[in-house]
Amino acid sequence: MEKKVKTHTQAVHAGDRKKSGRHIPVTTPIHTAASFFYENMEQLDRVFGREEPGFSYARYDNPSNAALEELCATLENGHGALACCSGMSAIHIALLTALTDRRKSVVAADALYGATVNLLLNVLEPMGVAVRFVDICDLDIVERAVREAVPGCVLMETISNPLLRVGQIDCIAAMAKAAGAAMVVDNTFATPLLAKPLDLGANLVVHSLTKFLSGHGDVLGGIVVSDTAHFDTLRTLSRTFGPVLGPFESYLAMRGIKTFAVRMERQCTNACRVASWLATQPGIARVHFPADPAHPDAATIRRLLPDGLYGGIVTFELKNAKRDQVFRFMNALRLIVPATSLGDVHSMMLYPAMSSHREISPKHRERMGISDGLVRLSVGIEAVEDVIADLAQALAKAAPATRHA
Ligand SMILES: Cc1ncc(COP(=O)(O)O)c(C=O)c1O
Repeated sequence: MEKKVKTHTQAVHAGDRKKSGRHIPVTTPIHTAASFFYENMEQLDRVFGREEPGFSYARYDNPSNAALEELCATLENGHGALACCSGMSAIHIALLTALTDRRKSVVAADALYGATVNLLLNVLEPMGVAVRFVDICDLDIVERAVREAVPGCVLMETISNPLLRVGQIDCIAAMAKAAGAAMVVDNTFATPLLAKPLDLGANLVVHSLTKFLSGHGDVLGGIVVSDTAHFDTLRTLSRTFGPVLGPFESYLAMRGIKTFAVRMERQCTNACRVASWLATQPGIARVHFPADPAHPDAATIRRLLPDGLYGGIVTFELKNAKRDQVFRFMNALRLIVPATSLGDVHSMMLYPAMSSHREISPKHRERMGISDGLVRLSVGIEAVEDVIADLAQALAKAAPATRHA
């Protein structure tokens, strides 16, 4: 697919219509075969040796995943992609790819999804990888950390989970490159509609496909999109570890991605309206949303995110609230689904201290700015008036306890 066409067009067309026998299916079918047959051993040998295009064994590659990978690589302007069975497996293999033949040291944003923090602290660090967390939105701090740690990898999220901080990917990628480090960016919250980190100098981009890209809450998956330099290592590691996505999940993800750009536009618009409304509510102590002119990264947001597209997540703090008030508020929701995940067509609310950041110690959580009154709302594509009405009635029900707290 030509790179000239726009993201909305790529999302609908890229990856499809590969010849399958005498037919060309208009959309990519689900290929469930675990292995592939050739008329003679010589041809299979060439396919195994990657001298001829084709598929040999589904852990290596299969046509459903290949279509999804081509789609995601197109959307992110990458050289190639690897479809994984979850966002976490994608982050894991992206970090291992980045650290192959490099110093076993990571400089990571201190604002990251909780399981990514766990992966760094509880899996990679015990295996000998040095990990240093930094305020990724302060370029002086990042510069000092990169100079001192000389890392093999720098890791950040485009829009951080859950506080929606936005770092200067392009400047940080330049620092990483100068230090010989690879730059890995988790672009889950932004999607390729808002940002394309490879264009800004990143080497590997990761998504939890489970979220905005698939968008319907019916598939768990991840993707790593790679530049040219890292693609062979990524593929080789994947052939050995086997974190691959199943073909049915590939089909669901691809079907979802066709509409991601229009969904995302609607979610961004709805989220702007919800954030503005929340900011006027007396029961709300603080609203985190990238459109806010007082956002700590407002200048970066103006420079790097497109006008009017600030993501579909709004994070806010209930005034003086602790766990029981937050539970009362979330129990009172009638339309917004209080469940774990984000980016779906339906609005969802999550309590980070209990779920996404549960495994992180309370002290570490406090340092990250994740208080006991903080909730994360993923705004769906519903009529925004209905989402606001639901928030209003739930806030009213939680209000007496909130006032007396
Ligand atoms: C920013 C971000 N990255 C990665 C993940 C992990 O994705 P998955 O649950 O598909 O493994 C999540 C999950 O919430 C996330 O929010």
